[in-house]
Amino acid sequence: MMPYRPEPFTDFSSPANSRELAEALIAARAQLGLTYPIRIGGNAIDTEEGIVSLNPSNKSETVGIVSKANRDMAAAAVKSAAEAFKPWSRTTAEHRCELVWKAAASLRRRKHEFNAWLMLEAGKNRVEADVETAEAIDFLEYYARQMLELRERGRKELIPLPGERNELHYVPLGVGVIIPPWNFPLAILAGMTVAALVTGNTVVLKPSSQTPVIAAKFVSLLYDCGFPQEVVSFVPGSGSEIGDTLVAHPLTRFVSFTGSREVGVHIQQLASQVGEGQLWLKRFVGELGGKDAIVVDKDADLEAAAKGIVASAFGFSGQKCSACSRVIAHQDVYDEVLSRCIELTDRLKVGDASEFSSDMGPVIDASSYQKILNYIQIAHQEGRVVTGRKPIDLPGFFIEPTIVADVAPGARVMQEEIFGPVLAFTRCATFEEGLEIANNTEYGLTGSVYTRNRSLIEKAKAEFHVGNLYFNRKCTGAMVGVHPFGGFNMSGTDSKAGGPDYLLLFTQPKLCSELL
Ligand code: NAD
Ligand code: ALA
Repeated sequence: MMPYRPEPFTDFSSPANSRELAEALIAARAQLGLTYPIRIGGNAIDTEEGIVSLNPSNKSETVGIVSKANRDMAAAAVKSAAEAFKPWSRTTAEHRCELVWKAAASLRRRKHEFNAWLMLEAGKNRVEADVETAEAIDFLEYYARQMLELRERGRKELIPLPGERNELHYVPLGVGVIIPPWNFPLAILAGMTVAALVTGNTVVLKPSSQTPVIAAKFVSLLYDCGFPQEVVSFVPGSGSEIGDTLVAHPLTRFVSFTGSREVGVHIQQLASQVGEGQLWLKRFVGELGGKDAIVVDKDADLEAAAKGIVASAFGFSGQKCSACSRVIAHQDVYDEVLSRCIELTDRLKVGDASEFSSDMGPVIDASSYQKILNYIQIAHQEGRVVTGRKPIDLPGFFIEPTIVADVAPGARVMQEEIFGPVLAFTRCATFEEGLEIANNTEYGLTGSVYTRNRSLIEKAKAEFHVGNLYFNRKCTGAMVGVHPFGGFNMSGTDSKAGGPDYLLLFTQPKLCSELL
């Protein structure tokens, strides 16, 4: 087995690669508007009412219509996954890993096809789409290897005692309800689903209603690669309608959720209740929102800082949990960093995500669009909006990248997750004050510091309270196996997706001791 290495990104300066993606887009467009069924225990179910998935770059374009599960179907999916658990949990780790590796190989072969769907359904430009497909492949390649590591770890890590054979077996938990967000509709969904499956659990996957077509395509890929249909049920549906049924079901053993703070807290509370006939305390793995800051010291490379800030704030229209939404700059360099960020931001070309020239596509849907515009109104009251005022005359949900300067640390735009292309600037008198401001939200996901001063780097390592802390680089773009990802405080349970301890969350260690 080759050691794990992150998947290389596609080089789009090569005309052949651009042509392949263009052809994949044509093929995907020919499939727009198709319907996709619910999948429960090996049965495909079509419903009259469906979730209509629109192209955020062009809201008159229907990407697909996905059947919508009701509460009875959600309950049936959990029951069916519980029935499938025993045989699946007894398959060998090698067998499950083989299936995962097949899925990774298939995804690699079909990367431009998935890139095209990410562009059409999620509004990612080609670079963001390609990075996401690579990340999905990475999760598969990495978790399969980690599964084998975990098994070996159980055999090796105990202290030997003469006269006894002691082993720790990391056994699966049971039925997992998997609830991913729309902003990484392939990578996060694939990572959460496959981590649960490769450790021997069965899953009920409820995709986000904004991106159910990509989810349906990934589930089909798993089936095509030999995953028994009974071990992965696919139940698209409204979170508020079927979410509680899935989470509260007494046969649900764990919930793996990535999404907003509000929904995450609700699910965690519901999962902590013990239902009638329930035999366990449910496990909750929850990765939630962020309000991520970049701190710029007076002794920083300001050009590098401005580039890192703009990439972190406006990549995928700021719709990453890791996105920079706050800049805290030392007063001596504040004006220079701000004006360079404005220049770089004004150069970004906003447009249809499937156009290869677009630096920034749309935001995901009408409700996000309205929410972000409301925050821009608030920004006008809380600071000085210095760029991002022009309306965009395109048929999708487009918002100019917006910078608001001179905002107080406690302002709403400095505290609340906007999840769009809005970046707030505040100044600090000292580096220490900068760190205090950075820590002063309820979140703690990512952060970055630009400085050339080694002692300040050490200070930030000790005091900047975030799960993923970066220095002299952007605060987005964690790579599987390289930068395990997850946050502190209300950013979640810090599961460190893509890290060496992640699979432990989907297992329970069983000690077997034999007297020889
Ligand atoms: P969301 O919370 O609105 O939805 C997440 C998922 O929960 C969706 O599948 C949704 O259908 C489902 N859901 C909604 N209500 C539910 C309910 N009552 N019961 C069960 N499921 C329910 O989040 P979103 O808008 O899809 O994603 C954006 C959020 O996700 C942002 O806050 C972002 O920061 C966060 N996020 C965090 C990470 C991380 O690793 N920390 C990664 C990506 C996104
Ligand atoms: N893992 C993603 C990043 O680091 C969210 O940007």
